[in-house]
Amino acid sequence: VSQAGVLTADLVAQSSRLSLAGQPATLLSYNAQVPGPLLEIAPGDTLQLRFHNALSQPTNLHFHGLHIPPTGNADNVFRHVPPGETATYEFTLPIDHPAGLAWYHPHVHGVVAEQVFGGLAAPILVRGGLDELPEIKAAAEALLVLQDFALNRRGQIQPPSPMFQRWGRQGELITVNGQSQPRFRLPTGGLLRLRLLNASASRIYRLALNQHLLHLIATDGSPLAAPVALEELILAPGERAEVLIQGDRQPSEYALMNLPYDRGIMDMMGGMMGGDGMMGGRLAQPQAIAHIEYGDRVEPQPLPQQLLALDPLPQPSIKREFVLDHGIDHHTGAPFLINGRAFAPERVDTPVQLGSVEDWHIINRAGMDHPFHLHTNRFQVISRNGQPVTPLAWKDVVAIKAYEEVVIRVRFADYAGKTVYHCHILDHEDQGMMGIIEMQ
Ligand code: C2O
Ligand code: CU
Ligand code: CU
Repeated sequence: VSQAGVLTADLVAQSSRLSLAGQPATLLSYNAQVPGPLLEIAPGDTLQLRFHNALSQPTNLHFHGLHIPPTGNADNVFRHVPPGETATYEFTLPIDHPAGLAWYHPHVHGVVAEQVFGGLAAPILVRGGLDELPEIKAAAEALLVLQDFALNRRGQIQPPSPMFQRWGRQGELITVNGQSQPRFRLPTGGLLRLRLLNASASRIYRLALNQHLLHLIATDGSPLAAPVALEELILAPGERAEVLIQGDRQPSEYALMNLPYDRGIMDMMGGMMGGDGMMGGRLAQPQAIAHIEYGDRVEPQPLPQQLLALDPLPQPSIKREFVLDHGIDHHTGAPFLINGRAFAPERVDTPVQLGSVEDWHIINRAGMDHPFHLHTNRFQVISRNGQPVTPLAWKDVVAIKAYEEVVIRVRFADYAGKTVYHCHILDHEDQGMMGIIEMQ
């Protein structure tokens, strides 16, 4: 049992020349690191950050996945830090905060995709929870931050073409912890716990291990009740997942593969391009993004049977609809809409009562995936196209496929104030697909 503490850190958002995937690159960074420095905290801890903006644009910090106040100098996305200025961020994690993987990134509407795609993203580990289970304590642990980049010959970020900006910018250089195909060690006979964060601006990963299962133990920042064996794991921008990998008796080849995934580019291009057309076929190939090799022999380690108990939320008192679609907002001209309107910073779209439980029906009327994210409060996914979703899990981003309808259930707990929900394909968020919720 550790004593709650106060953690302090200095963060500088800056443009830096650094090494990415073994080559020199000019990126946006926190403290000249891509991904940025890991923050490790525990429930009850207070975090104090001194944040300096050395960029040429306004920026700020959002603590994605933390249940902390959306106001003041905590997780306030409406506060912008002008270039050259320093701001303090400070909050205390509630003592019953779930343990798991969260992250921080900028959140200034209009430049979020540019800043995140430039490199501004970093993990936060909330310690406790699953860490205490004997089987998981015995496992080796690795944190994998997935980012993709488009660099020109001089190692600078290539701005997206208008079409890619519309679709959601992607780069062909996929990095894990800023490296190309890094290697991780699985103790021979043992377990490896991978903690995965999709910190890409738009790319949806479809992950699989060569010939082996992924045992899912946590979704976004929260543990499951029991492991779920998966052949593939889809990870949309902003999503996190934790999986266990169990070693074979015989040495074998483990590569973490990214498989082809269609998030609706054909719809965007009006069906005019062939499947591999403009993408040159390269994005359509399975690609190894990391390798797992055998480490020291350990005592055989079983998979855990049970993880941490998880209760369903009570029945909702209110049902709301959110229709995601493409069009033209008649005030701003923005093309990505929620309920027919694009983001407006002065408007409260969704006033909710503090303490209430609501069902949100999120209806994707577009031929493109839109991963939906809500700040401050995590939720449970109830159904997809009317079919109940199992297992019960806590999420803060839910992937909503083209033409899909998803119901999520959320309790607005603890914190009053305004915050946002939005598509986590950050170009879509920057081009209107975001709304304001006020909890009171
Ligand atoms: Cu990860 Cu509103 O963001
Ligand atoms: Cu967030
Ligand atoms: Cu979207």
